[in-house]
Amino acid sequence: MPAGCQYGEMTTHADPRRRGFGPSLRGQVEPFYVMKVWAAAAARAERGEPVYNLAAGQPSTPAPKPVLAAAHAALDEHILGYTEALGIMPLRRAIAGHYRDRYGLTVDAANVVVTTGSSGGFVLAFLAAFEPGARVGLVRPGYPAYRNTLAALGCMVVDIPCGPETRFQPTIPMIEGLGLDGLIVASPANPTGTMLSGPELAGIATWCAGREVRLVSDEIYHGITYVTEGATTGRPESAWSTDRSGIVVNSFSKYFSMTGWRIGWMLVPDDLVDTVDALAGNVAICPPAPAQYAAIAAFDAYAECDGHVHRYADNRRMLIDGLHGLGFTRLAPADGAFYIYADVSHLTDDSERLCWDLLQTAGVATAPGRDFDPVLGHKYLRMSFAGSSQTLDGALTALQRYLG
Ligand SMILES: Cc1ncc(COP(=O)(O)O)c(C=O)c1O
Repeated sequence: MPAGCQYGEMTTHADPRRRGFGPSLRGQVEPFYVMKVWAAAAARAERGEPVYNLAAGQPSTPAPKPVLAAAHAALDEHILGYTEALGIMPLRRAIAGHYRDRYGLTVDAANVVVTTGSSGGFVLAFLAAFEPGARVGLVRPGYPAYRNTLAALGCMVVDIPCGPETRFQPTIPMIEGLGLDGLIVASPANPTGTMLSGPELAGIATWCAGREVRLVSDEIYHGITYVTEGATTGRPESAWSTDRSGIVVNSFSKYFSMTGWRIGWMLVPDDLVDTVDALAGNVAICPPAPAQYAAIAAFDAYAECDGHVHRYADNRRMLIDGLHGLGFTRLAPADGAFYIYADVSHLTDDSERLCWDLLQTAGVATAPGRDFDPVLGHKYLRMSFAGSSQTLDGALTALQRYLG
């Protein structure tokens, strides 16, 4: 620091790094376009006009009953002050128990980190694992927050374009030679719902471990999978079944139907635990305490959550059949999650415009492909089937009228 310069005065007009008084360059990330569609759909509903919302990437059900009961008890019994940065031990132990019961894996609670949704987990994972300028491979199409968060943190996103030939998932030949420091995979994925088979994920995890490429495995749609034609998958495996040098990201949002509770978790390798602990304490002090106490009870609610998955399976069939009947034949094979990623290039080369027209003319809200794929997204729309069968039925009828 120059003599006489106070801490905090480092970035003055004399500092060549300073660009002037305004938003940072690193902060100029793409918004979620689907949020604009949501806002417009809500305004329509407010005016009393019909809305069939296939844009929402969330269950239409509340948190499981045991979670609601535990939340009420937590309000009565706990002060609900700050907790340990990595989360309360009873929850970390319960999550470790989930791996024992559902995956047959022994996980030490010391490696379980509770996060503010998986979204909060990504920030911690990327900060802990990657330097600015690190080359991190991302499947395109993929969940937009990976790309945008990495970009804001100064990492270099390395595109891995994936299409129907590989079920929109990466293969080892695709990632070889990219000079990666990190790789993010999601299985089941958003927006396609497609999965890596157990051996495919194991192969990628082994490949990454052998080359010191830090794997981040997004497993937040585990539990929401279907028996699909042509799929080589069964029950999803965790990347930690193969190798524990990568980071597993998971969440209570989707399978446990708890999006707004903002609670998720990570499995963090030994060498990153202290770094994540220090970062977590600084970034948010701790994940939300009420949600932490409540989430312990989520693991008593498998039957209720599996009931939701049976409903998604019926909805999935209904949407696929309905879309086929309307001439949408190029649909990503949704092995899991609750989305259909539909190629709409037979109708338009501007799916964002189609998305708005569908909402304004037919009341059907969808997510434009641009959110997930900056290059080819203009050919695609994502439709969620997490809602009620009445919503899907209404949407299909409205689509038929629109196309007719
Ligand atoms: C693939 C994927 N990862 C992560 C998230 C973030 O979820 P949350 O922060 O609610 O855990 C989402 C949300 O839609 C998602 O689709």
